Amino acid sequence: MCGIVGYVGDRSAQGVVIDGLRRLEYRGYDSAGIALIADGRSGARGDQQGKLAVDKRAGKLANLEKAIADTPLPASTTGIGHTRWATHGGPTDGNAHPHVGRTGRVAVVHNGIIENFAELRASLEADGHEFASQTDTEVAAHLLEREVVGGADLTIAMQKVCSVLEGAFTFVAIDAEDPSRVVAARRNSPLVVGLGEGESFLGSDVAAFIEHTREALELDQDQVVTITREGATVTNFDGTPAEGRRFHVDWDLAAAEKDGHDWFMRKEILEQPRAVADSLLGRRTPSGSLHLDEMRLDDDELREVTKIIIIAAGTSFYAGMVAKYAIEHWCRISVEVELASEFRYRDPILDNSTLVVAISQSGETADTLQAIRHARSQRSKVLAICNTNGSTIPRESDAVIYTHAGPEIGVASTKGYVTQLVACYLLALYLAQVKGTMYGDEIDGVMTQLEAMPAAVSKVLETAPQVYDLAREYADRRAFLFLGRHAGYPVALEGALKLKELAYLHAEGFAAGELKHGPIALVEEGLPIWCIVPPRGRDFLHDKMRSGIMEVRARGARTIALVEEGDDSVDSVSDTIIRLPKVPVLLQPLVAVVPLQLFACQLATELGYDVDQPRNLAKSVTVE
Ligand code: F6R
Repeated sequence: MCGIVGYVGDRSAQGVVIDGLRRLEYRGYDSAGIALIADGRSGARGDQQGKLAVDKRAGKLANLEKAIADTPLPASTTGIGHTRWATHGGPTDGNAHPHVGRTGRVAVVHNGIIENFAELRASLEADGHEFASQTDTEVAAHLLEREVVGGADLTIAMQKVCSVLEGAFTFVAIDAEDPSRVVAARRNSPLVVGLGEGESFLGSDVAAFIEHTREALELDQDQVVTITREGATVTNFDGTPAEGRRFHVDWDLAAAEKDGHDWFMRKEILEQPRAVADSLLGRRTPSGSLHLDEMRLDDDELREVTKIIIIAAGTSFYAGMVAKYAIEHWCRISVEVELASEFRYRDPILDNSTLVVAISQSGETADTLQAIRHARSQRSKVLAICNTNGSTIPRESDAVIYTHAGPEIGVASTKGYVTQLVACYLLALYLAQVKGTMYGDEIDGVMTQLEAMPAAVSKVLETAPQVYDLAREYADRRAFLFLGRHAGYPVALEGALKLKELAYLHAEGFAAGELKHGPIALVEEGLPIWCIVPPRGRDFLHDKMRSGIMEVRARGARTIALVEEGDDSVDSVSDTIIRLPKVPVLLQPLVAVVPLQLFACQLATELGYDVDQPRNLAKSVTVE
């Protein structure tokens, strides 16, 4: 997720901003930039007092630092900076933030997605505005500048502009003609204020400024904050006064980067409601139809598709298994799901009526990359589902759905996985729209159910204390089983993979119907078995799952059942019940996986392992 820094005070803004960006590097990024208001004391760029000086570079912060060292920025005590994780537009110098308005008077940095940017950009273009980037952010720079040129101060301009924007965003902006203030706003995106002596700071999180001050101010949603040397003033978007919540930061830097958690993985699990919401943003056009991020395939080509092959590795493969249930059910197209590492070695049957869907969080997995190259050489079209804008797999694909989870730092995929699930559902609905296998109102209905999922994921996160207790209770076990059916089966596989990766335990996932075909022989007294019970909507599945639970319990297993609210039918055959919110059967993986992630994270913590960097594993597997 992007890193944001803002500063006003008496120090060199360049130093504070670059240091802050360095502290936020852990968030992951693909370009970096800075904007300062020249104070007229010096400058090698011919900048004058009251003018903006901006530099921004693709790649690492070191690229920006080198550019500044080669051509120094003017002296300044007011500035903003940004490390960008590309969403709209690839990771280039031009798309890097800050962006400036039409006359270069206002500069802005942004985290999030402006859903209605296309309409706003079209109307600005109709008024003669020209845009230098492919970003949604530049629209905000033009809108803010139009307001200040029209006489509003930057705070009022921010209130007005935010009121017309849809989506999730944090903005931090400066006006060259008012170096006394930096103005920021937030809606469903992180922002925190640092309050020093005669200086104030803004950051995506406190890591940006804790070396300068530990006094901080937290904002609510839909608020604007103006920082000056004297402090901070908060308003709501409608201009009414508001108050932030003061707090003292007592974390060290390492904890601050993790929002006070012990592991990035735990932080990322807890970020999932936000990640799911972000992955749904901006998917519907004003006319209500669905659209994908990058589409180099036309609808006629998609209508010709008769078979889909999903290729992926590890956790992404399990997301692909869930996609099969959704696509086949909603689109009536047959779907194969294949491990990327096996795909091209079996001489797969491919032609131009086959759509290959490659799922990869990193976008760099060598097995998946080689598989899509093979598919394209056989004239199949490739659609990528990916979290990393500008990575190789989306670049080499014909269409892309970005998952918008933000960078995932823990090696084990969590928010990457749930947002892959969302992207798979979106793809299924998109194909249903193009092929006409669902009515528009049915698609709307599922979109509404999906839009309720961030709240459902938040609800299931409330089970964390119960799950952590279980992890402590079972910390001495060396083996676990996971059972699921239908869309719960891949969740069982994912739950087992998480335990293997993090706690180095023998863990297996099975389709519950397969028990009697072999795995039941593994069941012995005290073996913990996680059972993912399908929602009641599929009663025949539900009842079969209940029989499976009874079978293993009769053989001495300790059963831990994930069951939807209001379903007490397995209570008598379960040692532990964890309640899931009521959701449709196809969407259940989004909530059912969460306790399994929490369990693996906690069990590995109990065993003293490094949860973020499990042994022998790498985040991006770039060799076959
Ligand atoms: C598991 C995990 C791995 C990845 C796999 C594919 O927690 O992270 O199994 O899912 O290596 O990686 P991507 O999705 O980057 O292609």
